[in-house]
Amino acid sequence: MEKNTKQITEKLNGAEETKRQFLFMEKAKEYVALLEQELGRKPTCCVTTFGCQMNARDSEKLAGILELTGYVLVDDEDADFVIYNTCTVRDNANQRVYGRLGHLNSLKKKNPHKKIALCGCMMQEPSVIEKIKKSYRFVDLIFGTHNIYKFAELLVAMFENETMIIDIWDDTDQIVEDLPVERKYPFKSGINIMFGCNNFCSYCIVPYVRGRERSRNPKDIIHEIERLVADGVVEIMLLGQNVNSYGKNLKEPMSFAQLLKEIEKIEGLERIRFMTSHPKDLSDELIQVMKESKKICRHLHLPLQAGSTRILTAMNRRYTKEQYLALAEKIRKEIPDIALTTDIIVGFPGETLEDVEETIEVIKKVQYENAFTFIYSKRTGTPAAAMENQVPEEVVKEGFDKVLQTVQETARMRVALLQGQTLDALVEEVNEQDPTLVTGRLSNNTIVHFKGGKELIGQIVPVYLKECYGFYYLGEIMNK
Ligand code: 5AD
Ligand code: SF4
Repeated sequence: MEKNTKQITEKLNGAEETKRQFLFMEKAKEYVALLEQELGRKPTCCVTTFGCQMNARDSEKLAGILELTGYVLVDDEDADFVIYNTCTVRDNANQRVYGRLGHLNSLKKKNPHKKIALCGCMMQEPSVIEKIKKSYRFVDLIFGTHNIYKFAELLVAMFENETMIIDIWDDTDQIVEDLPVERKYPFKSGINIMFGCNNFCSYCIVPYVRGRERSRNPKDIIHEIERLVADGVVEIMLLGQNVNSYGKNLKEPMSFAQLLKEIEKIEGLERIRFMTSHPKDLSDELIQVMKESKKICRHLHLPLQAGSTRILTAMNRRYTKEQYLALAEKIRKEIPDIALTTDIIVGFPGETLEDVEETIEVIKKVQYENAFTFIYSKRTGTPAAAMENQVPEEVVKEGFDKVLQTVQETARMRVALLQGQTLDALVEEVNEQDPTLVTGRLSNNTIVHFKGGKELIGQIVPVYLKECYGFYYLGEIMNK
């Protein structure tokens, strides 16, 4: 059954829509209670996330609604309800979903009550929906990125129909506030400050699947953070595809730097992070606010993508190699203890090994603390996918290996510079390999493991950085 819930609520404002969704949650609760009677136990659910921090945050919203309707959250895909929150930024993300769906089907054959749902970026692609309709008939519910706030309503529709429910919208200007959220960590949280992207980098599918840029109202953001802090959160991560263009489309425009200044004032909040910055929009005002801040973490993720100006132009990145280098140099000069990380794509159409040498030159000059290196993935519908000069696999591989090696060398060198210092770490978890250790994160995002117990989780403690092991440290907790 193809559904379009958009017409029904188009005229409702955000607050009315929130109320409406809570009514659906009540209705869903009744169905979950019936299921509980039938099963003789609480029904379980599992939310699996693919992709970025935005998706991770969306998954917390899905989990919040599922929990409120009476499901018990588990990590096991054997659960009675499984939802995949998908990513489509590179093709391997799509392939992983198809691969795992086969396994879900075999689990469903053993559990007649099992329901399977798919949502997120990949579902915004018409070819994906066609494929699922044809080859994955056992899926019960599919929706996209624009109507995730209607999850409760869609759950009800799923309970009331035997056939596959599909509800995908092309866009939305709606931002619905105050729906339930189930956080993964009690002490830290992501917060959306904006949705969508207007940049249309020529390789990237995000603007097509996440829609146009929309900023949340600063008051709503501040209230959400205040509530989180009252609930024990000490670190927040402000999320947006391009946070540096925050506020441009608000009724009363506001810059990202101004928003940060307001957030800084929130008492009890200890650390502020944000992701992602587009170099073309990173202002001097932001550098100044970061420099003066006591709470903004010493970490900036500044995607380079490529070092050659020719390739950057073809990518529609709207900066040159020289402009990027000048910006990185300015940031390092103004905030010397900052860690710079980046994203790099190798193998964009027309990229030669000479171009890759320019990327390597930038890596050596900037000396990133960490870099995520990706092989270019052709995304149908993007301008780059139609370019004729796609790079042969062997050439891509050669360039990729060189880039990766350079990144690792410079990152090791940079991270090692902290040795012997005592810095604050927010303790995040008990170490997975060695339960006598806990794992903490420095302001500059470096990981440190040190002796300690789970009572330290959520605390910020000074740690002596004793030994560097490439990208992380072994340390010792110091007295406060
Ligand atoms: N191929 C490879 N990498 C991509 N990214 C975005 N689109 C593609 C693509 N088509 C990378 C960019 C971006 C990161 C989130 O994913 O480096 O910054
Ligand atoms: Fe994609 Fe570019 Fe937007 Fe980032 S800024 S989401 S790479 S289009």
